[in-house]
Amino acid sequence: MLLDIHSHILPAVDDGAKNIEASIKLLEIMQQQGITDVIATPHFYPQSDTIEEFKERVSSSLELLNNSGVVFPNIILGCELFYFNGISKSEFIYEFTINKSRYILLEPDFYSITKGFMEEILYLKNEVGLIPIIPHIERYHKTRGYRAFLKFIKNNKILTQVNAASFFDKSYNRTLKKLFKNGLVTFVATDTHSKNRPPMMDSALLEIEKRFSKIEKDRILLNLQALYTEITFKEDCDEIKCAEYL
Ligand SMILES: [Fe+2]
Repeated sequence: MLLDIHSHILPAVDDGAKNIEASIKLLEIMQQQGITDVIATPHFYPQSDTIEEFKERVSSSLELLNNSGVVFPNIILGCELFYFNGISKSEFIYEFTINKSRYILLEPDFYSITKGFMEEILYLKNEVGLIPIIPHIERYHKTRGYRAFLKFIKNNKILTQVNAASFFDKSYNRTLKKLFKNGLVTFVATDTHSKNRPPMMDSALLEIEKRFSKIEKDRILLNLQALYTEITFKEDCDEIKCAEYL
């Protein structure tokens, strides 16, 4: 089993796959790379979208894909939720969790990582009971507040994800080294959008083994398996009530 936790494979729903043909192509590449399950994480920007429109767009996109006859990899529904002030107290936060589990992919602002953002992550974790995952954590290496953010992540054991493609972009070499050295990488995912940003899961896993160690690669794979269990485990419970079983 190999899970991709971050992708934009749903057709015509965000800046990812443009149409059903593009979606199918990306899913075929994923299958060739050994990915068995993929979480579709379309962008939700609260500043420019409404929850109703987003849900409607996602559900018709998913239906289109389901009707296309593609059965593999298995698609799980999630979202890449862009941070907004007051997110931790939002009553709609549960709409955006992965497969209605406790896990939520929460995208920081590229301009600045603020103290407020970190406080809200902690509130979500400690008071609301959700488990935030920070996507492509390496991509913020030039963002204001990055150093403090990494310290915060380490101290509070926040889950993180790095993009597979970043292993093949030299500008991230130093940051990736630092992240792995400090134990700050929980997951690797494709964050695939199109043929220009294709899935690179298999080569990224090989690269982790080559640059760091087999232990590191195996740790990432185990984390992905554990997350799969967490987000798919349902036993006579629904939505956030699942939390008490996890
Ligand atoms: Fe993304």
